[in-house]
Amino acid sequence: MPEDHWSSARYEAAARFVTDLAGPVLALLDPKPGERILDLGCGDGPIAKGLLDLGCTVIGVDSSPDMVAAALARGVDARVMDGHALDFDAEFDAVFSNAALHWMVRPEAVIGGVARALRPGGRFVAEQGGHGNVAAIRVALVAALSEAGVETDLSDIWSFPSVDEQRARLEAAGFVVEEVAIHPRPTPLPTAMEAWLETLAAPALARLPEAERPHVRARAAALAAPALRDSAGRWTADYARLRFRARLA
Ligand code: BEZ
Repeated sequence: MPEDHWSSARYEAAARFVTDLAGPVLALLDPKPGERILDLGCGDGPIAKGLLDLGCTVIGVDSSPDMVAAALARGVDARVMDGHALDFDAEFDAVFSNAALHWMVRPEAVIGGVARALRPGGRFVAEQGGHGNVAAIRVALVAALSEAGVETDLSDIWSFPSVDEQRARLEAAGFVVEEVAIHPRPTPLPTAMEAWLETLAAPALARLPEAERPHVRARAAALAAPALRDSAGRWTADYARLRFRARLA
């Protein structure tokens, strides 16, 4: 079984803002009571629970057993499933995803599975990191990892497509793209950068022996600080959200 880098407790402390900021993509989804919706990368399930409360039928999938356990505890019908290998056939009115697709680094496989999961005319509505997302954090982390002997540009962990790349992939899978844009969204963090890295860069840091991780997190934070930490010590992450709605032709 692959290593589960996610902890619902750590997510609650360091990254709850990710689901709290889902308003714009939920508005783009425009869910209606009675619709059958797949929440792809449902995490611990707060958005799926909101859709359930609205009267939708919701299935959540996530690759993390810890997150799925937390979603089930909220009353969400959640399943452990790899987004690259979705196992649904023409059964959803909509597939929704917030802040999850960027973890799936083979987007063609994901989009193909979404197309198969939707009924004809169904919609795929999502928000993820887009081109340039967390650029200052990424450069700092790449440098700190390199100093520690790990060479990666992080494209094997995060996928942040441009508008043109995403449009082309969606169209190749049979979607008509109704809306797609990148929205810069500088985001104040509730914690210091080290905690963000511990939660949201866990798969990259896992390439280091555990004892080395605190030093590399501190080094990456020091490199990012001039761009992202203000004089009062508050951090703002340089998020850029790719948001889209596409309909299966
Ligand atoms: C994001 O939500 O944009 C994000 C999540 C994890 C790592 C980097 C970015």
